[in-house]
Amino acid sequence: MDIHQLIRKRRSVFPGFYSDKPIERAVLEQILENANWAPSHKLTEPWRYKVFQGDSKLKLGAFLAEWYKEHTPEAKYSELKYNKTLKKAKRSGAIIAICMQRDAEERVPEWEELASVACSVQNMWLSCTALDIGCYWSTPKSIHDYGKFQKLEEGERCIGLLYMGYQGQEVPDSKRGPIGDKVIWYE
Ligand SMILES: Cc1cc2nc3c(=O)[nH]c(=O)nc-3n(C[C@H](O)[C@H](O)[C@H](O)COP(=O)(O)O)c2cc1C
Repeated sequence: MDIHQLIRKRRSVFPGFYSDKPIERAVLEQILENANWAPSHKLTEPWRYKVFQGDSKLKLGAFLAEWYKEHTPEAKYSELKYNKTLKKAKRSGAIIAICMQRDAEERVPEWEELASVACSVQNMWLSCTALDIGCYWSTPKSIHDYGKFQKLEEGERCIGLLYMGYQGQEVPDSKRGPIGDKVIWYE
């Protein structure tokens, strides 16, 4: 697959589309190595990842589901969503918590560090596409309390979860408005 095809083939693939095939550690290491080649201003390399498989993945799912239950008013609470959160963890081959480590000396603005982490996630996302692994970046409100699940370093925060699994089914097409509407050319 050339780079043009790879970029356009990348999709958000949800756990309902994953097969049961486990993701080998060596494959995850390859994906994470690619994540590490993202750009960052002053080479702060602010991306930090926590990889969950096996029992730890189910514990993370349980934490997210319980957080949802505790923080949702009764009138809005959905048992379906609670169970879906547990099921998503179960169906995934791995879940990677996406974290950002703020530079201790704050040599660059925080938004630049977040941008670098997003570049790093895109490296993983494209790597997954090339390996026939589906994944998607999930940002539930519970991630702001990730520190209650697992200790984070000073200045580190969780900005999402990458659910991953070998793709078992084709996903529907994604849509984009024309690039022409988002670009101004000057000559
Ligand atoms: C920073 C970020 C956060 C996202 N958070 C969520 C999310 O919480 N739930 C969700 O269903 N999709 C989430 N997505 C995926 C987008 O919904 C998805 O990328 C968009 O619909 C386009 O689909 P595509 O990725 O298949 O092209 C997120 C994507 C990004 C980049």
